[in-house]
Amino acid sequence: MTLEQKILHHLSEAVQAIYQTKTDTDQFNLQETRKEFEGQITVVTFPITEFSKKSPELTGEDLGNYLKTNVDEIVAFNVIKGFLNLVISDEYWFQQLKEIYSAPSYGILPKTGNKVMVEYSSPNTNKPLHLGHIRNNLLGYSVAEILAANGNEVIKSNLVNDRGIHICKSMLAWQKYGNGETPESSGLKGDHLVGKYYVIFDKEYKKQQDVLKAQGQSEEEAKKNAALIQEAQQMLQAWEAGDEPVITLWKTMNSWVYAGFEQTYAKLGVDFQKFYYESDTYLLGKDIIDEGLAKGVFFKKPDGSVWIDLTKEGLDEKLVLRADGTSVYITQDLGTAQLKYNDFGMDESIYVVGNEQDYHFKVLFLILEKLGKSWAKGLYHLSYGMVDLPTGKMKSREGTVVDADDLIDEMVATAKQRTEELGKVDGFSEEEKANLYQMIGMGALKYFLLKVEPKKRLLFDPNESIDFQGNTGPFIQYTHARICSVLSKADYAGTETFAYPGQLAETERDLLVNISQYPQVLNNASQEHSPALIANYVYDLAKLYNKFYHEAPILKSDDENLKTFRLALSAASAAVLKKGMNLLGIQVPERM
Ligand code: ARG
Repeated sequence: MTLEQKILHHLSEAVQAIYQTKTDTDQFNLQETRKEFEGQITVVTFPITEFSKKSPELTGEDLGNYLKTNVDEIVAFNVIKGFLNLVISDEYWFQQLKEIYSAPSYGILPKTGNKVMVEYSSPNTNKPLHLGHIRNNLLGYSVAEILAANGNEVIKSNLVNDRGIHICKSMLAWQKYGNGETPESSGLKGDHLVGKYYVIFDKEYKKQQDVLKAQGQSEEEAKKNAALIQEAQQMLQAWEAGDEPVITLWKTMNSWVYAGFEQTYAKLGVDFQKFYYESDTYLLGKDIIDEGLAKGVFFKKPDGSVWIDLTKEGLDEKLVLRADGTSVYITQDLGTAQLKYNDFGMDESIYVVGNEQDYHFKVLFLILEKLGKSWAKGLYHLSYGMVDLPTGKMKSREGTVVDADDLIDEMVATAKQRTEELGKVDGFSEEEKANLYQMIGMGALKYFLLKVEPKKRLLFDPNESIDFQGNTGPFIQYTHARICSVLSKADYAGTETFAYPGQLAETERDLLVNISQYPQVLNNASQEHSPALIANYVYDLAKLYNKFYHEAPILKSDDENLKTFRLALSAASAAVLKKGMNLLGIQVPERM
């Protein structure tokens, strides 16, 4: 039983003993004590006045006296308005350190048997990954790691939208204007090469539209009638019909793209256990359409198109299959959802996709529920906001998109420059330096994107992200290196025994309380699918460690017992910092 559980249990007892009311432990609310008050754990007494029929202050006094008498770890309390602040004994916090210290798996929860799929990344194959994908990839990876640390069995999956009009556009433009260009001949990364032709398609298509508009066609007509778009549509039909040359070109260009994606994924440090390809799954959706028609969940319009009426649910009528029998985006997702479940039988299935698709996923989940899929309740859309750069919104069509590879390279280059300026790499080999720059550049990027709640739109400021001070990845990485340096100067092996130093300094206690909160933070992050909770926790820990480092002399202490205790506290801090950062996909250096 944790101390929190013990306190909740005794609170329930107290209410029974003092106010003769039976309660459940989940009727109470515990919080971390606010910095300005004495104590570490706070009971919110407002809800309990319902049983006590007294003011929150008097209720706090009653409960405080009861808890102090009955819970050994509580040595004092104070009541501020509706808050009962409990002072926990220093011995208790010290004991926590002993436990954390001796458990290498601290903060890794036992397997629950719960299985979760996290689908993330899920790119289209007509162009390279961009800044939005970076947020997606980092979120998906981190949420998967957090769920796994919480005892879930996690399958990371990637649904590749490898077919459709978008890729036909790139294919057509390459055929018309490419002169046989390949990644080898051009020296371009495969996904960039294919993306180049997507942009060319768009340019040429616009030109054609302008000509048609000058001839008096409306915007809409010109869009429909331009020869290029019609050719792309014919190409898609040829693809669906299995036309050999089209399929061959499609395979070739997609293979270029995959080689490119693989490199970007490696640089981002993300991985997948299972790939799904839309070209394999889009037909499966059609079976579900038949099933839905038979069950009366869908209806057919006179032109043969298939729809679902969601007006009762406050949505509208939604097309699920075109009149010509071809799939729309959601058809494919219906089929893939079923396939995923058949493959893994997971309890939860998370989709990490930007908030511009909120409506799509609402509809998708609703349809699966209406179809009576028992697993539909486990579906969850982890929606996230757009990423802006200081220069404005990224656009993909006009070729002004912030490319993922470019951004990654730039981050690493900036990390190199900053680190050299600060002279932090004296005595490093070339290889060590390269590793460090990689670690810092990526750490800066990842931390900056993950410290913000997924739902919030965010402004990525590369310069701010790589600052060695403030709420940044490099600051936390630097703190980790600082601790490692303290430990190495002391020749600390990590196996030393240590004893209670008699009392704790405030910075020591604060640090211990923080480290003890890690499992709870991990749990919250998992419940809320929020790496931001881990990021901000790790930042607090780094700040507390630095305060401790400045206020409590470690190596200079002539009390050997105190010194070993402080070293152990340092080692535990480093271990938790590292665990937390790793959950964000961030590596931490041992020196810098
Ligand atoms: N490829 C899509 C896009 O780039 C995202 C796919 C999201 N996943 C899904 N199962 N629909 O917009």
